[in-house]
Amino acid sequence: MRFVRELTSWLSGAADADTFPYFPVLAEFHRVGKHFVEKELLALLDKIRAQVSGPTAGRPAPAVGLLRDFLDVALDKWDGRYDYRSYLALRVLRLPCGVDDRPDGEDDGSVAQPDGARRDRDRLLVRLVADALAFELAAGSGATDLLPEDRPSPEVVAKRHRLGVRAASPALARLGLAGAVHDREPAAVLRALAAERDPAGEPALRLSMLPVYVSHDEYLFIRVLQAYECLFAGLVEELRATIVALRAGHARPAADRLAYAGEQLTAAGPLFSLLATMQPTAFRTFRQYTEGASAIQSRSYKLMEALCRAPEGTRLESPAYQQVPEVRDRVHAGQPSVDEAFRAAVRGGLLIGADGELVARAMRAFADAVLQWRRTHHRLATRMLGPRPGTGYTEGTPYLAAVRSIPVFTSVAHEPGRSARTDPTGGTPE
Ligand code: HEM
Repeated sequence: MRFVRELTSWLSGAADADTFPYFPVLAEFHRVGKHFVEKELLALLDKIRAQVSGPTAGRPAPAVGLLRDFLDVALDKWDGRYDYRSYLALRVLRLPCGVDDRPDGEDDGSVAQPDGARRDRDRLLVRLVADALAFELAAGSGATDLLPEDRPSPEVVAKRHRLGVRAASPALARLGLAGAVHDREPAAVLRALAAERDPAGEPALRLSMLPVYVSHDEYLFIRVLQAYECLFAGLVEELRATIVALRAGHARPAADRLAYAGEQLTAAGPLFSLLATMQPTAFRTFRQYTEGASAIQSRSYKLMEALCRAPEGTRLESPAYQQVPEVRDRVHAGQPSVDEAFRAAVRGGLLIGADGELVARAMRAFADAVLQWRRTHHRLATRMLGPRPGTGYTEGTPYLAAVRSIPVFTSVAHEPGRSARTDPTGGTPE
């Protein structure tokens, strides 16, 4: 077996992280799916991990860090700690996933300049979508034999392409590349999207695709989930900055941050439409091997929810937060929220008259966007899952139906807006 020879010779040489033979290893994982990789290869990777995980003074070099993270993701099932975050390789993508992002409460009182971080996230989102579309096109033209099971029809591929471009368009416009997608010819659009390629981030992007099975649609599933994780991480940043602005009584920056966050979430709607093109039979096949990995473990989503408003005790002690204990601990430790910061600012006379109304309007609009997201998600899950339980050990869609109307904020009166009635998955509106 080629990869065993390559790994053994790498190990017996300098075993330099920069020259690790990632791609033969990746090819083997892709040939059978992560769930079915042979124990011999996993044992060898485990041995390599032990070697590269030895004590280092200070932070490991970037190449060593990437290799460790990749091996942790590749070996999650072998280790018995497979979950949503390792399934999506969030660490490899450098998205917040549990321990390595800035803890709450360390704000220095200033509103951080958002532009750099927003651009980075826009770029990552575009690259994730572009990569998903590139795979669709390559598979459709026979240029790749990766994940060969249940290939979609050319019509479905064309629809995916349209929806993917629509999902990436707002980010492209912010990056000043709106013109790039004017030409709707698929290959031209992909070339334009590829212009956003970040050479330093390319290996990480490739290494973050480790499907559990060989079903074509799992590629799309993983990339859409990763794109949403990128988005949620951005919302967390915007909400933290909103809290800082509210505490200082700065209505305009608080409202602007909330408005930006709400627009992001709404503009990402086509990602759900894109995922709704997944073939339910293909989904049900590969999800047999994703048991234990569910977005109920999404730390960014729960942080986002809890930064809006501290969850009530029953929710905090339910599986929703038991699966993200780090977030639950932060709430117990008194993590601030927009809801509470708004109340305090009004009570303390920092937000009066038009300023208070400006922020309240932005809060309502953001709440609309979140409630819409939850409704669409519930509808999509119903279509794909039917009455089956979730991979996060809830009863499935009844859980989602129960949590979809939890209030986002309680400090402002809120009638969910009419915009909540459109359905990006193309199903029947409620
Ligand atoms: C085929 C598509 C999908 C299906 C069938 C589905 C199904 C489910 C189910 C059944 C749950 C309940 C927990 C469990 O037992 O697993 C759940 C939770 C969740 N899903 Fe999805 N989901 C889908 C797509 C997505 C996407 C694209 C995202 C975006 C990241 C997402 C984010 C979430 C989040 C954040 C939760 C936790 C909600 C909460 O605890 O309040 N899901 N999903």
